[in-house]
Amino acid sequence: MTTKQNILVTGGLGFIGSHTVLCLNEAGYTPIIVDNLHNSRIEVLDALEDLLGYRPIYIQGDVNDVQLMSGLFNEYNPSAVIHFAAHKAVGESVEKPLMYYQNNVVGLISLLEVMKGMGCSKMVFSSSCTVYGEPEAVPVKESTPTRPAASPYGATKQMAEVILKDNSWCEVQCLRYFNPVGAHPSAKIGELPLGVPNNLIPYLTQTVAGIREKLTVYGGDYPTSDGTCIRDYIHVMDLAEAHVAAIDRLFNPNRIIASQEGDPSSENFEVFNIGTGVGYSVLEVIAAFESATDEKVNYAIGDRRAGDVVAVWADTNKVNNVLGWSAKRDLSTMMKDAWHWQQKC
Ligand code: WQD
Repeated sequence: MTTKQNILVTGGLGFIGSHTVLCLNEAGYTPIIVDNLHNSRIEVLDALEDLLGYRPIYIQGDVNDVQLMSGLFNEYNPSAVIHFAAHKAVGESVEKPLMYYQNNVVGLISLLEVMKGMGCSKMVFSSSCTVYGEPEAVPVKESTPTRPAASPYGATKQMAEVILKDNSWCEVQCLRYFNPVGAHPSAKIGELPLGVPNNLIPYLTQTVAGIREKLTVYGGDYPTSDGTCIRDYIHVMDLAEAHVAAIDRLFNPNRIIASQEGDPSSENFEVFNIGTGVGYSVLEVIAAFESATDEKVNYAIGDRRAGDVVAVWADTNKVNNVLGWSAKRDLSTMMKDAWHWQQKC
């Protein structure tokens, strides 16, 4: 009987964290959730209980609370940490940079200090394709040079990667997400609509649901096939499954560290692009939503949004061949699951 290893999930009641909790359980791990509810609701825990058949262990708290975190490590002795807890709104980070540096960078350092003190040396880290800025070429590989961040949010992710790489005692799987969308097929968990959405898909589904009057497409004059920006949208369930693959890899002592010229990966720090490898424009996403749901999206082309990159999508060769993971769900499924979730909200 293999003992079920405890995996600490910071931000485990959040959008990606909650979906990852389900996949960890499915893979035979015991998720231990810590979340300060800054960007989530306690009702997510009820939904997880519904889906899991048991109420997962949850502690309300902040990664900056060293005393609480030390107590938590003492009690549950996690074998690894998946660190989601961070602020993630690009626009908000421009208005409140110190809040972002405090939470995303100081919070990471606090967590690492507790991990070191408690002898936990494995982490899966939530990074972002934002670190590439406006890439010199697409699709982006892990070796594509990072560019100066276009926002404090992006800067916190770049700083976090440097901090993790320099902490050679900690083995890190650094996952650079592209654009997470969709929801669990049960529609019991999904992207919580707290306030006016910054991101495309929640704004789109709220428009179709009549909560928002019209979706504004930010810019129709970009140098792309239809003038709108291109992104690599990935189903949140695929993204959650990638985290389990990364946890499994951390426990594989025979893993061979793959790296190529320019790839920042090293013995203790592996970077993977977590995308589908396919880019879609905003107008293509709107068309895919309409055909997947038979609903009409009320939208208009408006001004460009400051800070948007024209096009970014992933080269997934490394994650496919080294991590042994690939995205399985297509854009139509992403749109159907996003709409199903919106209808339940
Ligand atoms: C996607 C496209 C917009 C809203 C951000 C973060 C990134 C990651 C995902 C955390 C762009 C267009 C959007 C709208 C629109 N988050 N858009 N009308 O900016 O690619 O990435 O979220 O890791 O780090 O930067 O996502 O969904 O905001 O925008 O036309 O009302 O949709 O211009 O082209 P983005 P997004």
